[in-house]
Amino acid sequence: MKYYESHEECYKKVKKSNTSSWDEFQKKADAFENFYMKEFLITALDRIKPEFNSRILDIGCGTGPAACFFAQQGYLVDGIDVSRTAIEMAQTNAKERGLNIHFSVDDICMISETGSGIYDMVSDTHCMHCITHDTDRKAALSSIFRLLKKGGYFVMETMSIEDTSRWSHNGRMDELGILWNEVKEDDPYDKVFFEDKFWMCTRRVMSPSAMQKELEQTGFLIEYLGTTQDIDIEYMADFQAICRKPPV
Ligand SMILES: C[S@@+](CC[C@H](N)C(=O)[O-])C[C@H]1O[C@@H](n2cnc3c(N)ncnc32)[C@H](O)[C@@H]1O
Repeated sequence: MKYYESHEECYKKVKKSNTSSWDEFQKKADAFENFYMKEFLITALDRIKPEFNSRILDIGCGTGPAACFFAQQGYLVDGIDVSRTAIEMAQTNAKERGLNIHFSVDDICMISETGSGIYDMVSDTHCMHCITHDTDRKAALSSIFRLLKKGGYFVMETMSIEDTSRWSHNGRMDELGILWNEVKEDDPYDKVFFEDKFWMCTRRVMSPSAMQKELEQTGFLIEYLGTTQDIDIEYMADFQAICRKPPV
């Protein structure tokens, strides 16, 4: 099984803990509505000003805090996540708020939607740092680009680090910014064996300049780049980008 499918185990814990979202479980938010990335999404919508009824896709939507926020602003929202438990929780969260959102279990690295030019905006609400390998990241970014209408926007916020050697939180981070965590031999997800232990990649934390290059190589026009201090780790920042598929 792909390394990022391990999120399913995390969401089983989120559900068991009776919290409504990843952020609430991680104690980064005190309520579903107050999700970590909300401030940046408000800024992004204010800048982009999507028309009422614009179509938005939230990738890695988790239990749906950003998707519900978009729907409450009057947009037509789809949310995808690789975790079935997350999607079931998202459906419940939307229903409880009287919101009509189409949530589905899907993988942005091999998404089932084959069409193009569907969305006015795609948001990455902390999903891309779960996609560690260059081939998977390329596939995910190309799908996002394809799914956007001409002139459509990609809004992302994701973990970043300027100097990977400073990482001291958990696991081991290599020079590419791939974070490796020790796992058991019978762990069902992709793993590698070195130094007598099994390891699974869990995060890709790149420098802002490397991420800018990745976006430009995909074909995006960059409209805004910024970073914001991580609330837990002093040497970490979140990379924020608003970029656009060329209008012609
Ligand atoms: C840090 S969580 C953020 C969840 C949600 N956006 C939120 O703000 O609560 C990252 C999410 O990305 C999802 N994810 C990871 N890899 C994915 C993939 N390849 N395709 C779709 N979702 C993925 C995870 O299951 C997880 O829900």
